[in-house]
Amino acid sequence: MDKVLVTGGLGFIGSHTVVELQNEGYEVVIIDDLSNSSAEVLEGIEAITGIRPLFEQIDLKEKLDVENFFVRHSDIKGVIHFAASKAVGESVKEPLLYYENNISTLVYVLKELKKLPSAAFIFSSSCTVYGQADELPITENAPVKAAESPYGNTKQIGEEIIKDTCKIAPNLKAIALRYFNPIGAHKSVKIGELPIGVPQNLVPFITQTAIGLRDELSIFGDDYPTPDGTCIRDYIHVVDLAKAHVIALGRLLQGKNKSNYETFNLGTGKGSSVLEVVKSFEKVSGKKLNYKIVGRREGDIISAYADTNKANDDLGWKTELSLDEAMRSAWEWEQKVRG
Ligand code: UD1
Repeated sequence: MDKVLVTGGLGFIGSHTVVELQNEGYEVVIIDDLSNSSAEVLEGIEAITGIRPLFEQIDLKEKLDVENFFVRHSDIKGVIHFAASKAVGESVKEPLLYYENNISTLVYVLKELKKLPSAAFIFSSSCTVYGQADELPITENAPVKAAESPYGNTKQIGEEIIKDTCKIAPNLKAIALRYFNPIGAHKSVKIGELPIGVPQNLVPFITQTAIGLRDELSIFGDDYPTPDGTCIRDYIHVVDLAKAHVIALGRLLQGKNKSNYETFNLGTGKGSSVLEVVKSFEKVSGKKLNYKIVGRREGDIISAYADTNKANDDLGWKTELSLDEAMRSAWEWEQKVRG
């Protein structure tokens, strides 16, 4: 079976994708620098799949190490590239760190892929490229808006770099997957999200509050023009998201792609408000959550959810798991990690 490199394969989405790749019979090699992950995740992957993936601790900013890796693994057929920094606030304070971590590394990997006889490349992009879209649900044709942060900009620039490279490298085929809001954990509760420090994202903040690590959740604004006044997002179960990567990779490896560079939105198509997420959590956990309404968070958009037609019809993928299932798995994971 084909050999696939997963960069950032010990992270939240990366580890779930490695599991799905191994379930489908792919041979996986992980590169991770452990800057925001732990080698213990390998145990979780092995416990679920019965296979321990190859792992190399490499910092992709080290260009020579990247070159050497591809000399040793010249039989790689595809790369799923997760490795990147993703804290929006930090990116505003440290823009050069973000451009180096997210852009230099992408360039070095693509340079090596250009040398291979053929290569499939899957890129972790984000719905953040659309900003506040003028029309909902958001299709892949919605215009890319000026980025709100250096982090968001690295996703936009990353997409452009890949598109430009595909134009001149006939051996290279790529898909950018624009994720909406990934949440949840594997049903085995052997892998999940491991945020370092105070979580910036809603769901880990909710579960950490419920387990007593945080006093209360601050809900950022209830005066938005939405039915209950809180912001709306498209929360997608990480296992559904992981499966989309395997399908996208297969599409490229089997030559089913319509052009050498494609983009797909990965979401459920259903928007949920912050209060609906809290209610879902309270329902599945049986716990009352401490929360208060505070002012709006700078940079937040009002509402974003995916038009899933292209992913459904063209990619042949759709989500199978509900918000309740995602919240239940996130809660079970939190209890396991801190319990
Ligand atoms: C955030 C990032 C975005 C990134 C995405 C995926 C910002 C401004 N945006 O998006 O660039 O692509 O994560 O990781 O950080 N909320 C609360 N209280 C909290 C935390 C969140 O009310 O303590 C609300 C937010 O206002 C928002 C929703 O929950 O309405 C989701 O927030 P979050 O999980 O941070 O995701 P995004 O803002 O969609």
